[in-house]
Parts: sequence; C-alpha cells; structure tokens
Amino acid sequence: MKFLTVLLSAATAALATQVTPTVSSYSTSGCSGTPLATWSGVPENSFCQATPGAVSLNITLGTETNCEIDVFAISNCDGIHGNFTIIPVVNGCYTSPAGFSSVRIVCILTG
Ligand SMILES: *[C@@H]1O[C@H](CO)[C@@H](O)[C@H](O)[C@H]1NC(C)=O
Ligand SMILES: *[C@@H]1O[C@H](CO)[C@@H](O)[C@H](O)[C@H]1NC(C)=O
Repeated sequence: MKFLTVLLSAATAALATQVTPTVSSYSTSGCSGTPLATWSGVPENSFCQATPGAVSLNITLGTETNCEIDVFAISNCDGIHGNFTIIPVVNGCYTSPAGFSSVRIVCILTG
C-alpha cells in the first residue's frame, strides 16, 4: 500500500514536470490579453513556431534551463543575415518593441 502511494505520487510528479520552456505569445506588450499561441520546446531539438503579429512572450521555464530562445522578424525562423534576437531565458514576460513573427526554442543538451 505504501509502495503504491509512492508510485502514484511519482507518476503525478512526472506528468506535472515540464522539461523544456513553455511560452505564450501575445499581440500586446506586457503579455496581456488572449495568447496568440502557446507551445513548448522539444527536448534535444529546436522548434520553430510562427506567431505573426506577436509583441510579447511569456516564458515559463521547465526543469531544463539551459535552452536558447530566439525571436525572428520573419515567420519561418530564418535567421539568415543574423537577423534574430536571442532573448533571456527566464520566467516572465519579454516584450519586443519591434514585434516578431516567429520564435525558436533550442534545447540541445547533449552531443
Ligand atoms: C506567464 O505564465 C505563467 C504560467 O502560466 C503565469 O503564471 C503568469 O501569470 C504569466 N505572466 C503574464 C505576464 O502573463
Ligand atoms: C532585419 O529585419 C528587419 C525587419 O524585417 C529589417 O528591417 C532589417 O533590414 C533586417 N536586417 C537585416 C540585416 O537583414
């Protein structure tokens, strides 16, 4: 019985634990209003989300904090000409005065 309780609480904790950052994009500064999109990074990979018209991004860190988040002026995370901004990976709201159209979360931790 005790074993079962431990097993159940471990399973619950595993479900609640997000590894990569979860973000929501907003069309207004300060992350107010209804999110345009909400998504998470992918472990050991990079993930691009198009989010046209976004101005702010609310970041909720997972257990892995060693990720990079980039915002791009164009919608396909094409950073050709180095035209993207690496933003601080911290819990909270990031506002870009210029706005952005896509976001890349890179969480490659090994290799
Ligand atoms: C950002 O997201 C977290 C988690 O969902 C939430 O608690 C927090 O209030 C949000 N912050 C803003 C500025 O929307
Ligand atoms: C970066 O993107 C902005 C917005 O699209 C554009 O005005 C600027 O010329 C670009 N810079 C480079 C170096 O491509």
